[in-house]
Amino acid sequence: MRLVLAPILGLTLFITLPALAEEPPKKADPHAHAHGGPESPYTLKEVMQALALAEQQIQVGLLTNNRLMVAEGAKAIAHHPRPKGGIEPYVKKPHDKLAETIQEMDKRVHGSAVSMFKSAKTASMLELQKLNDEMIRGCIQCHDLFRD
Ligand code: HEC
Repeated sequence: MRLVLAPILGLTLFITLPALAEEPPKKADPHAHAHGGPESPYTLKEVMQALALAEQQIQVGLLTNNRLMVAEGAKAIAHHPRPKGGIEPYVKKPHDKLAETIQEMDKRVHGSAVSMFKSAKTASMLELQKLNDEMIRGCIQCHDLFRD
């Protein structure tokens, strides 16, 4: 098991650490979002691939009762960097309320990620899995609307 997890963990850290370095400036609102912060140099694809890896870290954490992995994955998702130029320029599908809807989807994912991070030390794995389900639903809702 350890042999299988080591490369995943190594790769996860390799990819998520730069994302964590992109911490937004502290704001009064505890739910203040990285998107209010400065833009990163990363493309939307890079940000999304890092989100997917953070999600894998959460899933391995849930399956192995590893609260640290759940917390780290949730934190990486909650503080993901803002893509270079914002999301809008990458979206090819027409949508009449693009900016508004993107913000709403993103908030949903962010809210669940923050709750997961906050309860990672105490909630049961089943409760954490519920939050994970909610979060992934947010990811997929956005993809359903905006991905080709
Ligand atoms: C605000 C909308 C939005 C949310 C929320 C969102 N995504 Fe995405 N995602 C996109 C769009 C748009 C693309 C297509 C990007 C492209 O092809 O340039 C994408 C693409 C992806 C890809 C494919 C990247 C590739 O290599 O082509 C993955 C993986 C992904 N998202 C994971 C996630 C995960 C995991 C979450 C939730 C934690 C998430 N996304 C939440 C909009 C979103």
